Amino acid sequence: MKIKKSLSYILIIALTLSFTACDKMSSASLLSHKIKSGSDVTFFVTTDIHYLSNDLTDNGEAFQQFVKSGDGKEVGYIDDIVNAFTNDIKKKKPDVLIISGDLTTNGEKKSHLSLAEKLKAIEKSGTSIYVIPGNHDIFNPYARAFKGEDQLKTDYISDKDFSSIYKDFGYGEAVSRDKNTLSYLAEPSEDVWLLMLDTAQYKDNIKKGSPQLDGRISSETFEWIKKCSDMANEKGAKIITVMHHNMLNHSDVVREGFTLNDNEKALDQFHSMGINLFLSGHIHIQDISSTKKDNDTMYDIVTSSLAVYPQQYGVIKYSKKSGIDYSTSKVDVEGYAKESGIKDPNLLNFSSYSEKSFGQRSYARTYSNLLMADAYTDEQIKLMAETTRLLNLRYFSGTEYLNSKDVVNSEGFKLLISDNSGFSSRYALSIVYDNDTDDNKLHIDN
Ligand SMILES: [Fe+2]
Repeated sequence: MKIKKSLSYILIIALTLSFTACDKMSSASLLSHKIKSGSDVTFFVTTDIHYLSNDLTDNGEAFQQFVKSGDGKEVGYIDDIVNAFTNDIKKKKPDVLIISGDLTTNGEKKSHLSLAEKLKAIEKSGTSIYVIPGNHDIFNPYARAFKGEDQLKTDYISDKDFSSIYKDFGYGEAVSRDKNTLSYLAEPSEDVWLLMLDTAQYKDNIKKGSPQLDGRISSETFEWIKKCSDMANEKGAKIITVMHHNMLNHSDVVREGFTLNDNEKALDQFHSMGINLFLSGHIHIQDISSTKKDNDTMYDIVTSSLAVYPQQYGVIKYSKKSGIDYSTSKVDVEGYAKESGIKDPNLLNFSSYSEKSFGQRSYARTYSNLLMADAYTDEQIKLMAETTRLLNLRYFSGTEYLNSKDVVNSEGFKLLISDNSGFSSRYALSIVYDNDTDDNKLHIDN
C-alpha cells in the first residue's frame, strides 16, 4: 500500500513536471481527437479582422478621421462584418475556424474581450477556433478609444493576457506550446494538425512607442517546431502551418516587414520537415504564392483581410483521398442585415458599398500622392488615379490575373509606368505582372 502510494506520488510529480517543462504538453493532449482519421475536414480561414469594440468609439469626428486616413479597413462596420461572418459560420458549420492574427485594430483590451465573446458564440455552434496574434495585437502603444474630436489612450494587453483571453481558442487545447512565443500545436483532426506560429515581435513595442512590423522565427522556436513535426510524422498527420507574416513574397514592392525575416532559411527548414503549406495574413491582399524546393512545391496562401474589400474568407476542404482544396467565399453582409432588420442602406447593399468605398479611398490616395509629385496635369493625375483604383479592386480580391489587358492598354497605366522610379509606377507594374496563378483557388494532392 505504502509502495503504491509513493509510486502514484512520483507519477503525479512526473506529470506535473512534464506539464511545466519547456514544451508544455497540455492536459488537452490526453483528450481524444475531435475528428477521426479518414473523415473530411472543413476549415474556414480568416485574418486581419482588426476588430474595434463598440465601447471604444462614439462614431464621432476623431473616429471618422481615423477611418478616412486608414488603409481601407471598414472599421466603422467591423462589428456588423464579424456578426455577418458569425451568421455564415452558423449556417455553413465548418469544423474549424483559423484566425491568423491582427484580431484587433490596435490591440485594445476591450476589443480583445468583445471579440472573444463573439468567438465563444461561434464555438457554441460547433466550430472549433484557433487563433494566433499579429503585429497589432500585443503591447500595442497605439491602442485608442475615440470620443468626439479626441483619440484617447486605452488599455492594451500583454502576451500573457492574450493566451488567457483566447484560452478556449487554441491555448487551452494545445498539444504543445513553445516556451518562447505564443506558438502552439493543435490537433483538430487526427489527419490534419495545425502549427499555429506566433511570428510577431512585441516585447519592445512600448519602449519604442510603436508596434514592430516585421516577423521572425527564432532558432529556439525552430527546435520546438522540429519536435512538433516529429510528433506529427509519428502519427502520420499532415501539418498546416499558420502564421501572421508571409512565408513567401506576395508583391515585388511590399515585402520588407511583411515577408518573414530570413524566409529562405526558414523555407529550407520547413522543407526538411516535409511541411509545404502555409496560411498567412498581414499584407491584406488575396494572393497565393508558391516556390519549388527540390521536386516539392511549397505554398503560402494569404487570405485577404476580413476588414477590407471584398470582405472574404478562405475555405479549406481536406480529404484524405483527394487532398486539400482552397477557395474563397464572401461574407454575406447583405443577408445578415436583412435577417436582422438593419435599416442602414450601406449594410443592405454592402458589396457595392464596400467596392465603392474602397475604390474611392484608393483613388483619393493616389490622386493626392501624384499631386504632390507636381509632374502631371490634373487630367493626367485623374487617369492614373482611376487606373490604380481599378488595379487595387482586383488586387485585393485576387482577380488581377484574370484580366489586366484592359488596364495595360489604358492611358492611365501608360502614364503611371512612364516614370518607373516612383512607387505608384512600381506598384502598378507589380500588380499586372502578378499573373502566375488563380489567387482564389488551389488544389494540393495528398
Ligand atoms: Fe493587418
